[in-house]
This record gives sequence, structure tokens and C-alpha cells, in this order.
Amino acid sequence: MFLYKEYWYPYIHGIFSFQQHFKAQNSDLILASLPKAGTTWLKALTFAIANRNNYSPSENPLLTTNPHGLVPFLDNAVYGKNPFFKLDDFPSPRILATHVTYSALTSSIGDSTCRVIYVCRNPLDQFISFCHYVAKLLNNPLNPSLIEENFNLMRRGVSPYGPFWDHVLGYWKANQERPDKVLFLKYEDMKEDPVSHFKVLAKFMGFPFFVEEDRQGVVEEILKLCSLDNLKDLEVNKIHKNDVGHPNSAYFRKGDVGDWANYLTPSMAERMNKLMEEKFSDTGLNFKFY
Ligand code: A3P
Repeated sequence: MFLYKEYWYPYIHGIFSFQQHFKAQNSDLILASLPKAGTTWLKALTFAIANRNNYSPSENPLLTTNPHGLVPFLDNAVYGKNPFFKLDDFPSPRILATHVTYSALTSSIGDSTCRVIYVCRNPLDQFISFCHYVAKLLNNPLNPSLIEENFNLMRRGVSPYGPFWDHVLGYWKANQERPDKVLFLKYEDMKEDPVSHFKVLAKFMGFPFFVEEDRQGVVEEILKLCSLDNLKDLEVNKIHKNDVGHPNSAYFRKGDVGDWANYLTPSMAERMNKLMEEKFSDTGLNFKFY
């Protein structure tokens, strides 16, 4: 990884291109997250919310395209491939994603009225999810000694787009200062109460649900379409690969809160918990681990 301005990046040239060339439009919706924090779910939900009147339920592109194919990452899928990528043809609102830190977002994002939606997840589940993801891409079983080694690195701040706590705190502070600009979601809260978080998300995006839609069950319909079980079972996500040859299935696993307990010892969890308490003290931020 590359250490750039105090953050660790798995690649860098796409990030520079993004920073140099991306011009935000006022209607843009920028999804931000650390890898394995619930990005795929957020992409599916925002796409489905914004396009709910454009497609009948049986024709929704989410049924045939992986969410990452519909909502591209600015730093790798867009500018990482082509610094002069033309995003002008994207239908409005453009829904685009990134894993970069709040401080690394381009000034045009800050200066425009575009909105940023951040999702985060407790560090233990996010870490274990990432280990599974890498093992799946490498076609290797999960290796306990690698888990331990990477866990220790993460605690020292060395993880993709990390330090974890600085990434989360950057968006958290932005949300506290400008709640109309930055929405801050937690994966665990969304799992616990999907309906109300979904409505908050839709309202923030500028696509609130009307009473009539609520009555007709549109909210539940979209939540079902975007559910882990549903997406995971679609042919496109079961057997297809993305354009860099990674299986789409790698983005869908269990989605459990507390799965870390199957892989990490109580003392590892305790150490991480302490560290987070230290880093998040006086910020009002905390995570549910179970
Ligand atoms: P687990 O590995 O814990 O199962 P990301 O999308 O940021 O890459 O995060 C992947 C994690 O989100 C994985 O967690 C995956 O199973 C979970 N996930 C993917 N799609 C989801 C969905 N539609 N609903 C809830 N969780 C989802």
C-alpha cells in the first residue's frame, strides 16, 4: 500500500486522477465507505431509490447487473482506467462511489451542493469481512496467522484507506458540521431497522417516499430487491465476474453483525475495543459489536 497524506491506499494513480479531473455537479450523490462496510448494499439501495419510477420491478437493472456495475468507484473504475473519463452522459442524479477519506474528496464536492452518503461498520466485522474477501479473490482458505498479522497492522493504522478511525472520524465530523451535506450511516443500525434508515436515506437523497408509496409497499419491495439473500442468489452475482476478473460473488457473504467472534479471540476484540474507545472518546461515536 501507499502512504499518502497519512492514509494508506491500495493504489494511488486513480486517486490522483479523480482529485484532478472530477467536477461535481450539484445533483450528484457521492457514496463513501471503507471497503467491506456495506458499500454494495448502499449502492443497490441508492440506485433502487433514485430509479424506482424508471423501471418496473421485473426490469430493474439490479436483477442483471452487479451494484458495482451500476454505481462505479470514481477512484478505480472511472479515473483509475481513464483520467479523461466523461461522466457527463451519466443520468442525473449521478450516483458515484469512493473509498477515499473525507479530506481526499475533491474541492468541487465540498463547494457544490452535491450530497455525500457515508456508511461505516464496526471495525471487527469490517476487518473479518475484508479477510474473507481477500481470501476469496486469492482462492485461498482463511489463514489464522495472516488474520493475526493483519489485525495487528490494522491496530497500528495500516489498513486499506486507513487508519480506520481517522477515515470514520473524518466523515463523522463532516456530518456533525454539515448534516445537510453528509449523511452518516452505520451498517449495524441499518441491519437492525432497515425501514427507518431506508426512509432517512431516501429523504436525504431528495427522493422521499410518499404516503401512497408506503401504503403500496414500495419500501418493502425495494428493501427485498436489495437484500443480501436476494442479490446473492441472482445469476449475475452467483456466476459472473467483474471487468477485472473478480467474481461478483465475493461481495456477498453472510452480512452478520458479530461474525468476528468466530475468528478473533476475546482478547483481540478487547484490544480493538479499547483502541476505539480511545480514538472516539469525546466524539459521540461508538459501534455495536454484537
Ligand atoms: P460479510 O463479509 O460480513 O458477510 P462491501 O459491500 O463494502 O464490500 O461489504 C461487503 C459486506 O457487506 C459483506 O459482509 C457482505 O456480505 C455484506 N453485504 C453485501 N451485500 C449486502 C446486502 N445487500 N445487504 C446486507 N449486507 C450486504
